[in-house]
Amino acid sequence: MRIAVPKEIKNHEYRVALTPTGARELAGRGHQLAVQAGAGEGAGFSDADYQSAGAQIEADVETLWHNAQLILKVKEPQPEEVARLKPEHTLFTYLHLAAEASLTQGLIESGATCIAYETITDNRGGLPLLAPMSTVAGRMAVQAGAHSLEKAQGGAGILLPGVPGVAPAKVTVIGGGVVGENAARMALGLGAEVTILDKSLPRLEVLDDRYQGRIKTVYSTADALDHAARESDMIIGAVLIPGAAAPKLITREMLGIMKPGSVLVDVAIDQGGCFETSRPTTHAEPTYIVDGVVHYCVANMPGAVARTSTQGLTNATLPFVLALADKGWQQALHDDPHFLPGLNVHAGQVTYQAVANAFDLESVDPASVVN
Ligand SMILES: NC(=O)c1ccc[n+]([C@@H]2O[C@H](COP(=O)([O-])OP(=O)(O)OC[C@H]3O[C@@H](n4cnc5c(N)ncnc54)[C@H](O)[C@@H]3O)[C@@H](O)[C@H]2O)c1
Repeated sequence: MRIAVPKEIKNHEYRVALTPTGARELAGRGHQLAVQAGAGEGAGFSDADYQSAGAQIEADVETLWHNAQLILKVKEPQPEEVARLKPEHTLFTYLHLAAEASLTQGLIESGATCIAYETITDNRGGLPLLAPMSTVAGRMAVQAGAHSLEKAQGGAGILLPGVPGVAPAKVTVIGGGVVGENAARMALGLGAEVTILDKSLPRLEVLDDRYQGRIKTVYSTADALDHAARESDMIIGAVLIPGAAAPKLITREMLGIMKPGSVLVDVAIDQGGCFETSRPTTHAEPTYIVDGVVHYCVANMPGAVARTSTQGLTNATLPFVLALADKGWQQALHDDPHFLPGLNVHAGQVTYQAVANAFDLESVDPASVVN
């Protein structure tokens, strides 16, 4: 299979879809791999690293796309990339189409086969290609929040673990899924007093069992949120209602009962945010202050740690990439019922129901195009 790895062109995106380790796996199976010059630079991988793993380096982006059968990316294709897509291409990347009408239309018109990382499932009901980035964001949330608690950042001047004789900071995590558990673990490791709020009792049971009371679990109600707002030095928003905008759990009015200099980290900002006063920020200017409360709302947190994120992402994507390369997309998706829901668009038709619903389009059963 002729495989291409373009350099990501979305603003401030430093990840790359394949590491030299992945390149070696593909080359070792006899696939022809072309990596765009400089594609790995942002994640700390040089062209020479890819060459010694068996890849060709291609300087001309048009040639790279033109020659490829399978294109591996990280972020959704940007307009100039959509324009390069042809019916003979298979694209494997994050797509998040339900929020992007013009991208969906562009992919339909391209005629290409477009497989999304984020809709691939696993046998535990999870989303295995989303989880690594949620893990990164959850772990970063505490790092970012701890920094924001410093006086120079507008914070209350609190050190998370305290010191002997001074109590640690109180950290509340709303939503105890992948982001939330990882945030809570980090906060616990740094010595904070940690509480997780969730709407799912089974999830709270798992967390209670796993952390044996070292993390408090509280069922999420208006009362519990009120209490969290009054008591916490840091609140991390990590809720997700699949396919829907995040609910606004801390209102502007509630900022009035929070301690001055406390910190809100809204990881759910990519789904609209779960605090009323959240608005997306970037790594260049990650925080702002409303009513004395510091807000950190970076929509693309993993981008700041591109090397770790690239390695975490590609560990998860590689088995699927190998299946696509070895078998071709039709056979690979046919053989794996968890890979099949990854198919979002094929030959001008939407093959993922939620995307079709979002734009009032017809959808085709993905199983019908792989049999
Ligand atoms: N900003 C970033 O860079 C970044 C990176 C990765 C993920 N995210 C986002 O982080 C959010 C969480 O992702 P995840 O992978 O942890 O999801 P998840 O599905 O693993 O966990 C979400 C949790 O929220 C809980 N929940 C839902 N509604 C709730 C409510 N009203 N109150 C309390 N808990 C509630 C659910 O029961 C679930 O346990 C998502 O919006 C995701 O897109 C953002």
